[in-house]
Amino acid sequence: MGSGLTFWRAAAARRGLVVRDLGPAIGVEIEGVDLTAPEDEEITGILRGACVERTLLLLRGQERLTPAGYVAFARRFGDELDLHSRRDLCHPDHHEIFVVGNVVENGRAAGAAKVGLNWHTDHYHLEHPALFTFLHAIEVPPVAGETRYANGIAAWEALDEPTRARISGLKVRHSRGRLYRELFPDATETQVAAEAARFPDVVHPLVRTHPESGRRGLYLGGEWGSLIEGIPKEEAKALFARLLAHMTEPRFVYEHHWRPGDVLMSDNRCSLHRATEWDEGRHRRRLHRLILLDRVRPVG
Ligand code: SIN
Repeated sequence: MGSGLTFWRAAAARRGLVVRDLGPAIGVEIEGVDLTAPEDEEITGILRGACVERTLLLLRGQERLTPAGYVAFARRFGDELDLHSRRDLCHPDHHEIFVVGNVVENGRAAGAAKVGLNWHTDHYHLEHPALFTFLHAIEVPPVAGETRYANGIAAWEALDEPTRARISGLKVRHSRGRLYRELFPDATETQVAAEAARFPDVVHPLVRTHPESGRRGLYLGGEWGSLIEGIPKEEAKALFARLLAHMTEPRFVYEHHWRPGDVLMSDNRCSLHRATEWDEGRHRRRLHRLILLDRVRPVG
């Protein structure tokens, strides 16, 4: 299908698809793709190329996409979909689909409302972290509840040289136990301990080389579970906060205002994202999340 990072733009134009960048540093929308149509390898290549080059891909109008069709769509990009340990918060017929939002069904929470309310990249606590994440909007509040995405490559490239030299070889320790406690405030100490035992801490480079583009980018992990290693703790926290503030400056961020039927696909190897609050007492928000795991460890 051609080479280089931008081959997909020409292919998209030839296939009559409309391509629109969303923000200066991150995000692209492709119009004209129906995810309920039978798989078309060229379209799959265009979508993957767009997501890798722009870090975030938006496909609107996918209201007819069924949960089974959604899982099949994600499988076009890899074979290992995450199965969340909170089975009670996943779709009853598809363990792969984790339900995000304040949804109550049959008197119990059918999704996790607070799960995305911090800057993070998905599954940074794994040796082989997330590759792509997919979110499908089923129900959205009329205002607020946006999702923000930040581009770590653009942020790294904009850092001054002394900062780059200082952080280039640093590593970050990621703790699932610490993160789990924040994500699920209702979890018991036994559940937290079981989760921490299942997922021992992992260490990844702070600056990661993207395996497809070869470009370097900040790989912070997440606000709730990551700590830079090899320097005193207070200094590590301050440096993390400074890099996070830099990476989430508006010039590197796109904020998505959801419509029902939207599908967002993001490249976790070079981005952070976070949900924003909404009026949970008045409005429902339900997104279906799929996380495709990577086959390789991050390298610096
Ligand atoms: C997530 O981070 O998994 C969900 C993001 C969102 O709720 O917008």
